Amino acid sequence: MSDALPKIELIRVVKRFETGTALHDITFSVKPGERVALLGPSGAGKSLTLRLIAGLEKPTSGQVRIDGRLMNALRRFFAPSRRGTGLVTQDMPLHPQRDALAFVRSGFRGKKMSSEDRNRYIHEMMDRLEVAGKERRLPHQLSGGERGRFALIRALAPGNRILLLDEPLSALDPHQREEMIDLIRTLHDEMSLTTIYVSHYIEEAQSLCDRVILLRNGRVIQQGTWMDLKYKPVEPFVRDYLAMTTRFRMVR
Ligand SMILES: Nc1ncnc2c1ncn2[C@@H]1O[C@H](COP(=O)(O)OP(=O)(O)O)[C@@H](O)[C@H]1O
Ligand SMILES: [Mg+2]
Repeated sequence: MSDALPKIELIRVVKRFETGTALHDITFSVKPGERVALLGPSGAGKSLTLRLIAGLEKPTSGQVRIDGRLMNALRRFFAPSRRGTGLVTQDMPLHPQRDALAFVRSGFRGKKMSSEDRNRYIHEMMDRLEVAGKERRLPHQLSGGERGRFALIRALAPGNRILLLDEPLSALDPHQREEMIDLIRTLHDEMSLTTIYVSHYIEEAQSLCDRVILLRNGRVIQQGTWMDLKYKPVEPFVRDYLAMTTRFRMVR
């Protein structure tokens, strides 16, 4: 396993907008089967990094590789549906007038499969995640946990083995968050996923992830295990960030 190709690799990725440079020289890799936390203050570049991996943004320079393949070659940019990635965001793009099934199906666009196979897969997943029978409900008729389950089904369309979670649980209460973390862990293991988890809740990130990549102002400040960050912080910011998040959690 240790000599397996990285599942995800970013090499010197830069992202510039007209307003300035949002990501400077981002380099990291994630091995198959890893669960990695991507942390950092607001505006650090966490969402943008996930969007670059998912193919929703193009890097200005640098490489995004999945299973060793370059996703952003000059002549060939891999579309989101061709990357095997599923993205879950907090503000799920749920249209108030669109039911859960339409939302789930929107994640299967561009997948080469018959509508029977697609429907069978969606129904199997709904059974497994215990939301079967609720697929015709509108977003406001579902609990936060149920919306989260539909978002996971959408992200885990067949062939998607990379799960990108962008603060997916922020709108949930602590009990629902705990349930979702357990569910994500189970799906990760059973479906042999590789997972990147962005969260403000450090305790959840710790319970789910073995490794951390810490960003600030569009740069990777440190990556390693929780122990590395705690006992070998490369600069005071790392210690302050972990301490601040802990204090923040305690006063909430
Ligand atoms: N489409 C865009 N146009 C201009 N700036 C952007 C765009 N998307 C993101 N940014 C900037 O990139 C930086 C990182 O944003 P983001 O990845 O959303 O941060 P966060 O770590 O909070 O998820 C921010 O400074 C943000 O303003
Ligand atoms: Mg964000």
